[in-house]
Amino acid sequence: MVWLWLTLLFAADLHGLRILDLDVPSAVEWGNPVWLNCSFDLESEDLYSVKWYKNSVEFYRYLPKEEPKAHKYELPGVYVDLKNSGENHVSLTHTDLDSEGIYRCEISAEAPSFQTERAERELNIYVLPDKNPVMKGIHDGYGPGDVVDVTCIAAPSEPAARLKWYIDDKEVQKSYQKIIPPLKKGSLFLSRLALNFVVKPTLRWHSPTRIRCTSMIIQEYSRSVEEVFLKGVKSINLYPAKGEIHISGLKSTYEFGDKIDVNCSSSTFSSPPVLRWYVNGEEIMSDQLLFYPIADYEDGYKTAVLGLRFTVKESHFRNEQMRLNCTATFSMIIDRRDVETVIGLSQQSSGLQLSEKKKKGISGSSGLHKHPWEFLILLLMVLWHSF
Ligand SMILES: *[C@@H]1O[C@H](CO)[C@@H](O)[C@H](O)[C@H]1NC(C)=O
Ligand SMILES: *[C@@H]1O[C@H](CO)[C@@H](O)[C@H](O)[C@H]1NC(C)=O
Ligand SMILES: *[C@@H]1O[C@H](CO)[C@@H](O)[C@H](O)[C@H]1NC(C)=O
Repeated sequence: MVWLWLTLLFAADLHGLRILDLDVPSAVEWGNPVWLNCSFDLESEDLYSVKWYKNSVEFYRYLPKEEPKAHKYELPGVYVDLKNSGENHVSLTHTDLDSEGIYRCEISAEAPSFQTERAERELNIYVLPDKNPVMKGIHDGYGPGDVVDVTCIAAPSEPAARLKWYIDDKEVQKSYQKIIPPLKKGSLFLSRLALNFVVKPTLRWHSPTRIRCTSMIIQEYSRSVEEVFLKGVKSINLYPAKGEIHISGLKSTYEFGDKIDVNCSSSTFSSPPVLRWYVNGEEIMSDQLLFYPIADYEDGYKTAVLGLRFTVKESHFRNEQMRLNCTATFSMIIDRRDVETVIGLSQQSSGLQLSEKKKKGISGSSGLHKHPWEFLILLLMVLWHSF
């Protein structure tokens, strides 16, 4: 899906120019303005330039010793407001789908060092559905042997909505669902998910029962930290995204035969991130990983931790270096909508009746009212019973 990442530049010197924070929003609603903020520490250096790129194409530069100091370059989707931009930030007046991409802030020091630092982050544009999802194909009633074939259809969005079926607040099992690939509508996507099964007889009865389709717009984004070890030499510079992801337990150097026993931790947001370890760019699988439960602190602060443990071998040093990288992937729910139908038992007809919340009072005779009501089954009971 969509990745948001931070690239680190490994400076030869611990001192000197340093990017402290790159603040680029990971998800922006189509049309909204954006701030791109890049804060840095010059230490003893003089600033020569700040340059901004989108997908490696420059769109803004700031040179404090020149007049005018700032220049912008036209780029689709990048609408720079020169008046409100400066050394530490660029203002974009609005956005569209072309604004998506990887934004890089690059700062350079004056002569003689000309030291350059850069950091990158991905910006994603989303478009929310303009309506609630709808249910198509639902009948007034269902009896044993009836086929339930209902489709939930979301209004077009970007990214595509993720749909889920619930019966009495329990997610419906996969085998009763049929995934239909999203339709492309211009630059947006229309998601559909069918509920599809044959009603089986069951003894349990429960009334009323609610059937619900939920549509969610979820933006995924990732953050990484990486440490590089040169053979026998302490070599690391590390600029993690502030407070978001952190590697602990590292020694300054590693030799063959040494044990690596480290943790990658991330403060969680609305839902816990998925953590992954990479050594020299290859993902580490479970036998070298230690899975810890999410730590919950009293102040509501949560931390996800994934341990990495292995013995350093010659093969871990590729081109004289060993790269340890931890990546956290976050899922952010941007929008959530429901459509719900209540199915109840009518005492008079003993039939199964449906009524959509919005169309209250509409109820059809099931045509099965001659049978004893225990015999009249409805999908919900069946499903509910089989969870
Ligand atoms: C970015 O900088 C602008 C201008 O200084 C400021 O108004 C805005 O709050 C900053 N945004 C973030 C997320 O720090
Ligand atoms: C990693 O984190 C777990 C859980 O917080 C802790 O028990 C363990 O001691 C940590 N290990 C290292 C090497 O820091
Ligand atoms: C960490 O590894 C992932 C996967 O190889 C890569 O996409 C990402 O850029 C790396 N992170 C850093 C900070 O280099």
